[in-house]
Amino acid sequence: MNKTIWIIANWKSNKNISEALEWISQVGPHISKDDNLKVVVCPTFTDLSEVKKTITVGNFPIMVGSQNLSPFGTGAYTGEESAPILNQLINLAILGHSERRQNFGETDEMVAKKVEQALVNNITPLVCVQSAETPVPQGCKLIAYEPVFAIGTGNPDTSENANQVAESLKEKNGSGLEVLYGGSVTADNVSAFVSQPNISGVLIGKASLDAEGFVKICQQVSEKI
Ligand code: 13P
Repeated sequence: MNKTIWIIANWKSNKNISEALEWISQVGPHISKDDNLKVVVCPTFTDLSEVKKTITVGNFPIMVGSQNLSPFGTGAYTGEESAPILNQLINLAILGHSERRQNFGETDEMVAKKVEQALVNNITPLVCVQSAETPVPQGCKLIAYEPVFAIGTGNPDTSENANQVAESLKEKNGSGLEVLYGGSVTADNVSAFVSQPNISGVLIGKASLDAEGFVKICQQVSEKI
């Protein structure tokens, strides 16, 4: 296929530190070192430091990401996790996930500010869009199309429709955009999504939690690249 594929695990609010480290020790040795495969794990903030350390010590080809970050820099912002501090631990940040938009009132304006913070602090912003109509903030080159009906429901979008939405997003926002698909991705359907010409990988919730299942997904993708 000869394209770079992203496989990104979004653990959401799951796994304490011991569970997180167990997953890393089970998954890490099975990820193939391949320049065309970019595997990222996005744990909770409290797991980040230990997860990063364990991946570094094991020399595993896994990057670390966060599930959010502050729209502000360092300073008097109680309870926020700011990009200039996080960048010692993470390469990427998931921003504007629909669960944040729904449950925490996150707006397109806030997402744009978070993208700005990520970019000036050398963190790759991965913005989640719910359709081709969701605005993509300036400077953002990596996005995930995650239709709400498909998230955590076991009812994924079709790979053909996801490909079409990805194509529209590229037409609107520039062909340099990499578009991932997220929503009920499993080892059984991942190959169909990553085989689509406009889809550059997957963002996985539930199916990323089980180490064995996640390794299976990575192996399916490795066979395609
Ligand atoms: P599920 O894979 O559990 O449907 O979640 C998708 C998602 O929201 C990833 O960000």
